Amino acid sequence: MESHDRISQYIIAVASGKGGVGKSTVAVNLAVTLAQAGAAVGLLDADVHGPNIPRMMGLEGQPQPGPDGTMLPLTNHGVRVMSVGFLALGNKAVIWRGPLIGKLLKQFLTQVVWGDLDYLIVDLPPGTGDAQLTLCQSVPLTGGLIVSTPQDVALEDALRGMEMFHKMQVPILGLVENMSYFLCPHCDERTDIFAHGGAQQMAEAQQVPFLGALPLDPRIRQGGDGGVPIVIAAPDSLYATIFRDMAAQLITKIQLDATAQATHALVIDQR
Ligand SMILES: Nc1ncnc2c1ncn2[C@@H]1O[C@H](COP(=O)(O)OP(=O)(O)OP(=O)(O)O)[C@@H](O)[C@H]1O
Ligand SMILES: [Mg+2]
Repeated sequence: MESHDRISQYIIAVASGKGGVGKSTVAVNLAVTLAQAGAAVGLLDADVHGPNIPRMMGLEGQPQPGPDGTMLPLTNHGVRVMSVGFLALGNKAVIWRGPLIGKLLKQFLTQVVWGDLDYLIVDLPPGTGDAQLTLCQSVPLTGGLIVSTPQDVALEDALRGMEMFHKMQVPILGLVENMSYFLCPHCDERTDIFAHGGAQQMAEAQQVPFLGALPLDPRIRQGGDGGVPIVIAAPDSLYATIFRDMAAQLITKIQLDATAQATHALVIDQR
């Protein structure tokens, strides 16, 4: 076992083919939801080019040094957070080639005092290229989560995200459709701005769990921009309910996979 196996029981990467579909928003709100349920949760911002997690989690400042050259994560909303955005080198013109990003991530895993985590959520940069592959290979992942918006072009990219996880033999824990529809705050009429239902169909075709659909709502953006995620700002809202449901499905899938693996190991042992 490698030393970083101890950091967290489960490590989940949040990916998308396309940029700007809401990976970081989903990563933040899922992390906070799991923490609200009593889990020990870490959130690792692996987006070195656009580290948005500090703002979305309402955090700024630098990590305090821990013992033996380690760093303490910053904590808010019950979640322990690390991001290149906290480090001075976040502002420097560093050329982040894949191997360098992988090295930094490994340092974040081994040199940050995470404590005993139940879940570590890793927010990946957009895309499915070499950088993302290296990133996923640098972390002992339990599984990956794909976020997509409903348009065909986003779904096409989401499929690439799934292929990336397949290639690395990382189980896909679920697909989330974000900005799925718009509910008029005045008349409650629903508008499917970017079409609707494509992600669910794709999940079914690919035989991966569909974790749910999140509406487009300015309050979700305000939560991100203001550093108070919607699940904290409005814990009784539809959004918080959707995130709780997604988190529950995610946990069920992780546990099912773990049981299946244990059974598999047993079968092999008996041969
Ligand atoms: N359901 C939603 N309703 C309204 N705004 C949203 C929703 N989801 C995300 N946003 C907003 O859309 C923008 C992009 O979201 P976010 O940063 O989470 O996407 P991303 O996939 O992480 O982007 P990137 O690829 O740049 O990392 C943000 O301003 C965010 O607040
Ligand atoms: Mg992001």
